[in-house]
Amino acid sequence: MFLKLGKVPTVFLSSSETARQALKDHDLACCGRPRLAGPRDLSYNCLDINFSPFDDYWKDIRKLAVQELFSTKRVHSIQPIKDEEVKKLINSLAESASKKTTVNLNRKFLTLTISVLCRAAFGVSFEDTVLSNSKLYKLVREVYVMLGCFSASDYIPYVGWIIDRFTGLHGSRVKSVKGLDAFYEQMFDLHKEEKEKGSEDFVDLLLRLEREEYVVGNENLTRNHIKAILMNVLLAGIDTSSITMTWAMAELARNPRVMKKVQSEIRNQMGSRSVISLDDTDQLKYLKMVIKETWRLHPPAPLLVPKEVISEFEVNGYVIQPKTLLHVNVWAIGRDPETWKDPDLFLPERFVGSNIDTKGQNFELLPFGGGRRICAAIYMGTTMVECGLANMLYNFDWELPEGMMVEDLEMEEAPGLTVSKKNELLLVPVKYLDH
Ligand code: HEM
Repeated sequence: MFLKLGKVPTVFLSSSETARQALKDHDLACCGRPRLAGPRDLSYNCLDINFSPFDDYWKDIRKLAVQELFSTKRVHSIQPIKDEEVKKLINSLAESASKKTTVNLNRKFLTLTISVLCRAAFGVSFEDTVLSNSKLYKLVREVYVMLGCFSASDYIPYVGWIIDRFTGLHGSRVKSVKGLDAFYEQMFDLHKEEKEKGSEDFVDLLLRLEREEYVVGNENLTRNHIKAILMNVLLAGIDTSSITMTWAMAELARNPRVMKKVQSEIRNQMGSRSVISLDDTDQLKYLKMVIKETWRLHPPAPLLVPKEVISEFEVNGYVIQPKTLLHVNVWAIGRDPETWKDPDLFLPERFVGSNIDTKGQNFELLPFGGGRRICAAIYMGTTMVECGLANMLYNFDWELPEGMMVEDLEMEEAPGLTVSKKNELLLVPVKYLDH
C-alpha cells in the first residue's frame, strides 16, 4: 500500500511475497533508517545500532555488538544471572500461590527481563539505580508509545515542530531523554574501576574500548556512542522479550488444551530440577512451537522498525523511490489467510514437520525482521523467552481469577512501536508439587 504522509512517501508491505522482494532481493536498496525526530533525540543523533543510517559507522558498531555484546558466548556467560533471577521470580510467585492471590504477569515478566539485562549489561541491580524498577518500567513504555506516535516534525516541514510542542510530544521526549541520560551517567560513575578482560559487563567493555581509542566508522568511540548503544540494550532488549512472554501466557490461558500439552512436555522432559536452564530448552519442541505461534499472532514490533529506501527498486511492478519510508507489516503477514490456514486460531501444531524458523529467511514469520537490519540479538531474545516461559509453566499451573471465564480474557493491543497487551494479564499461580 502506498501513502503520502506530508512530504514523505510511505509504503506498507503486507504480504510475505512483497516482504521477500524487499528484504531479500532488494535489501541493500532499503536497509537505511529515516532520521525521525524521536529516535534521533533518544540515540544522540542516531549513534545507536537501531536508528543509525546504513553506513560504515553502523557496520562497525553492529559488528562490535554482535561479536562482543549479544554473542552466543555472552548469552552462555550471563546464564547464571538469568537462572538466579528466574529463581527469584519463582519464589515470589510461590508466595502468591500460597496466598492464592492473582499476579500481574506483564509486570512480572518485565521485572524479569529488566533484572537480567541490567545485571548482565550494567553489572548492577536495578533497585540501586536512579531508575528504580518501577520508574524504568514506566519510562520504557512511555518511550515506545512516543516512538510509535505520529510526530508532526517528521512530516510537516518548517512548522511541524510547533505542533509537536503544542501536543506535548516534544516535552515528553525531552523528559525521557533526560531520565535515560541520568541513568547512563550513573552507570559511568559506578564503572570507574577497570576490570579484567573477560569479567567485563557491557559498560566495562565499552569504556575500555573508549580508553583504547577504538575507531567506529571514522571516529573514536565516545561517551555519546556508548550511551546510544546502551539505549539499544535497554529499549530493544527489555520490552520485546517480556511482551512475548505475556502474550504467550495470555494465549495459553485462553487455550487450556495447549497449556496442558506444553506443561506435560516440560514436566515429562525435565523430571525434577530447581530451574530450567539454557541447554535444557533445546529438547522442548512443543514449547518452541508455542513461542513461534505467539510471534505469528503477536509480533512485538508489528511494523518492524521503519526503513528508508536508499536507491530505487521495484516491488510487484511498483517503483519505490529513494527516501520512501518502508514499513513491513509483519502483523498482517502473520494473519494472512493466503499463507496460514485458520489464521486467527492459536494452533502451535501448525509448525509440526515445518521448517519455518524466525531467523529472517521465512518471510511468512518475521518477528525479528529480516535482511541486513534483522535484530542483532535473536539468540539472546529467544533464549530469554524460552527460559522464562519454561520455568513458569514447569513450576505452576495457572488459573483465571475467581469469577472470570476464558471468554472474558481480552486481547486488546496497546499502541506503540512495540505492541504490548493493553490490559494487565492477571492470573493465579498454583504451585505444581510433583517435582
Ligand atoms: C523477543 C525478543 C526480541 C524481538 C522480537 C526483537 C525484534 C526486533 C526487530 C523486529 C527489530 C527490527 C528489525 C528490522 O528493522 O528489520 C530488532 C532490531 C534490533 N534488536 Fe531486537 N528483538 C528482540 C530482542 C532483542 C534483544 C534482547 C536485544 C539486545 C539486548 C535486541 C537488540 C536489537 C538491535 C540492536 C536491533 C537493531 C538492528 C539494526 O538496525 O541493525 N533485540 N529487534
